[in-house]
Amino acid sequence: MNNTLPTPDDREETSRRQFLKIFTGIIGFFIALVLAVPLLSSLFGPLLRKKNAPWIKVGKLPELSSDHPVNISFRDRAVDAYIRENITRDIWVVSLPGRGLTVYSPICTHLGCHFNWDSAKGRFVCPCHGSFFALNGAVLAGPAPRPLDTLPSKVENGELYIEWERFEPGTPRKIRV
Ligand code: FES
Repeated sequence: MNNTLPTPDDREETSRRQFLKIFTGIIGFFIALVLAVPLLSSLFGPLLRKKNAPWIKVGKLPELSSDHPVNISFRDRAVDAYIRENITRDIWVVSLPGRGLTVYSPICTHLGCHFNWDSAKGRFVCPCHGSFFALNGAVLAGPAPRPLDTLPSKVENGELYIEWERFEPGTPRKIRV
């Protein structure tokens, strides 16, 4: 058994060790915090995001038919990081039997290309990997994993308004990004 009392040097060594322990703990805490922020924001960011996109006035609602869609371009303001710019977007609008006014995002649900309307065949065609969609948005053929994405819309005083939203490409579920 060693009964020697701690010398001043021993006490200094102990407090140095305690200081290093606390210091390492604090540094570790801050490193964990820095690593956790992006992880937590990617997990909970979508929940904290604003529920709905703002209404965008697209313009006068055109005469709609139930057998072919109308492509409408409109100006919007895009925000990417700190950069804000005016850009032109487009949508496909149709009046479907039983569903009424239907607005499609122009972005293919496979990998995000813009699709077109093939009036001769009466279907939407994506030029990238050959997905075909019916007028009601259903997938007819190709790798697209889900029907065309619809956008919220409303008409006020003859003007069409939409909420511009983007959705995860390549997934069977429609997930807002
Ligand atoms: S992006 Fe449209 S089929 Fe691939």
